[in-house]
Amino acid sequence: MKTALTLCGSTRNGSYNEILRRYVSGKLREVEDLEVIDLDLKDFPMPIFSEDLEEAGETPEAAGRLAEMFGKADIVLIISPEYNSGTTPLITNMVAWLSRQKHGQWRHAVFGLGAVSSGKYGGVVGIAHLRDSLSKLGALLVPTLLGVGPASQAFDENGVPLEDGIRRKVEQMVKELTHFSRGGI
Ligand SMILES: Cc1cc2nc3c(=O)[nH]c(=O)nc-3n(C[C@H](O)[C@H](O)[C@H](O)COP(=O)(O)O)c2cc1C
Repeated sequence: MKTALTLCGSTRNGSYNEILRRYVSGKLREVEDLEVIDLDLKDFPMPIFSEDLEEAGETPEAAGRLAEMFGKADIVLIISPEYNSGTTPLITNMVAWLSRQKHGQWRHAVFGLGAVSSGKYGGVVGIAHLRDSLSKLGALLVPTLLGVGPASQAFDENGVPLEDGIRRKVEQMVKELTHFSRGGI
């Protein structure tokens, strides 16, 4: 049995990215022999990263806990909004803390990135930055970048993407994530 973790870079009530995360997570659940675990970053509280905190031995336990989960997972899906053409503070901070852990957090799983934004470019600029950052850390990322926008016109009342092209892209991403995960499924 393989494991997929999914997480969202927005904890906003009514987050569009959370809607996309739920949709893709549902598609991953249709894959046989794959356990899907939806994480809530609120359960992994981490102060703003500072080397002084590290030196004082105040690394949050959540950083080690999440790094360990990443290190054991086969797939990690991150769906996150674009803030100012970059990633959200929540994701930037998480990556900073995790980059200092030693649990093989970037080396085992294959990573997939997606975004929903209010703009028509669907947040791909933000996740392209995140892809660069995770690549630098040694992560393997699937080629599909799932950009969805504009957010207010993207989903029906059940959280299903309205555009055929987006639903096809999700299928493609699920295929890539399962095929490229260690040993394939
Ligand atoms: C601080 C901030 C910066 C933003 N920057 C961008 C941006 O660069 N490009 C964009 O398309 N949308 C931008 N937005 C709009 C977000 O795409 C929009 O608020 C989106 O709904 C956030 O995702 P969420 O619904 O999952 O919380 C920004 C929003 C905030 C709060």
